[in-house]
Amino acid sequence: MDVISVIRTKRDRGELSPEQIDWVIDEYTRGAVADEQMSALAMAILLNGMNRTEIARWTAAMIASGERMNFDALSRPTADKHSTGGVGDKITLPLAPLVAACGAAVPQLSGRGLGHTGGTLDKLESIPGWRALLSNAEMLDVLESTGAVICAAGDGLAPADKKLYALRDVTGTVEAIPLIASSIMSKKIAEGTGSLVLDVKVGSGAFMKNIEDARELASTMVGLGTDHGVKTVALLTDMATPLGLTAGNALEVRESVEVLAGGGPADVVELTIALAREMLTAAGLPDADPEKALRDGSAMDVWRRMIQAQGGDPDATLPVAREQHVINASSSGVLTKLDAYAVGVAAWRLGAGRARKEDQVQAGAGVELHAKPGDKVVAGQPLMTLHTDTPEKFAYAIEALDGGVLTAPEGTDFVPSPIVLDRIA
Ligand code: URA
Repeated sequence: MDVISVIRTKRDRGELSPEQIDWVIDEYTRGAVADEQMSALAMAILLNGMNRTEIARWTAAMIASGERMNFDALSRPTADKHSTGGVGDKITLPLAPLVAACGAAVPQLSGRGLGHTGGTLDKLESIPGWRALLSNAEMLDVLESTGAVICAAGDGLAPADKKLYALRDVTGTVEAIPLIASSIMSKKIAEGTGSLVLDVKVGSGAFMKNIEDARELASTMVGLGTDHGVKTVALLTDMATPLGLTAGNALEVRESVEVLAGGGPADVVELTIALAREMLTAAGLPDADPEKALRDGSAMDVWRRMIQAQGGDPDATLPVAREQHVINASSSGVLTKLDAYAVGVAAWRLGAGRARKEDQVQAGAGVELHAKPGDKVVAGQPLMTLHTDTPEKFAYAIEALDGGVLTAPEGTDFVPSPIVLDRIA
């Protein structure tokens, strides 16, 4: 076997054999296939695709590159959720304790943000003292004692994906459905959850800009999960508009706590409940009542215990950015567009996200929205507040919002998109 013939097979639109796939993933993980060779192969896959057989084998090879976790010893069924990433997507924060409060165990291995989408770990790290890095033993301990744990994936889980994802990030090869599906599912299957709900985002703020691509990604991932014995369901959800009223780390924690306290924006509550129902059903707990767990404070209790178990202080004051800048509506009417990508880039430029993995994020930076599509607005009323510790970034952030906010004359017929667009099982 040699790497050049593997690259040529895919370059010439051929099908990779199981032996070629196992060999190239193993050699790449061990450092014998060079980054530039894997980059060429990733680009050939992006351009020419892989069929379902190839994707299944590629995923299995990435799982086999590292360790597999096992939660069989836990006293509850496990349920996990994975979002393909969006703007203002803080759902994991209220969802994990909510589902735990309803009887499932939620092992949520999460990531950091890159580019315009936020990362769950960056959000939680704005809580003073909270630790993302846990050993496997600590993770199991928090999971057994509180019902939920949100932490960084250890280095031993799908190391082939860790290497390949970093490479794709700098070679323009992230947006390939076979590579995204195998990347996400190799980690989720290796993690050892019994059931998985995928939140596949669709729209300007998501990887998948249209519903057809999102359906294809969702059905590929559902097939991979099911083939590996993980009960897997996908919801396709709107990411043309940011979720909720905040995009930024501490701002999103504050909003998540509002949801756990029984309040919060309607779209965040609706999606949290929809995903909780799917997770509980997939975990064999279809009669659990997540709405009650939000109302009666039991989800909030799990949140507090989970944050404390990871060193955080749930009562600590969250960081606030040093400077604010308010953007007002320029005309009266109905807000018809608040573009998720534009808001995500603005939050990123304000300091909420990072351009390179080594960059630090600002805990208090981000965008706070005062209106959502469908709302009536009056010229001069605040539309959003920008937060940052580095006010020299305001102009650059405002530039990102250019064309991202539209208002139509009052009386215009406008129906906002539903949050849940489709379900694939
Ligand atoms: N998230 C992942 O884990 N992998 C991808 O390829 C894209 C999003």
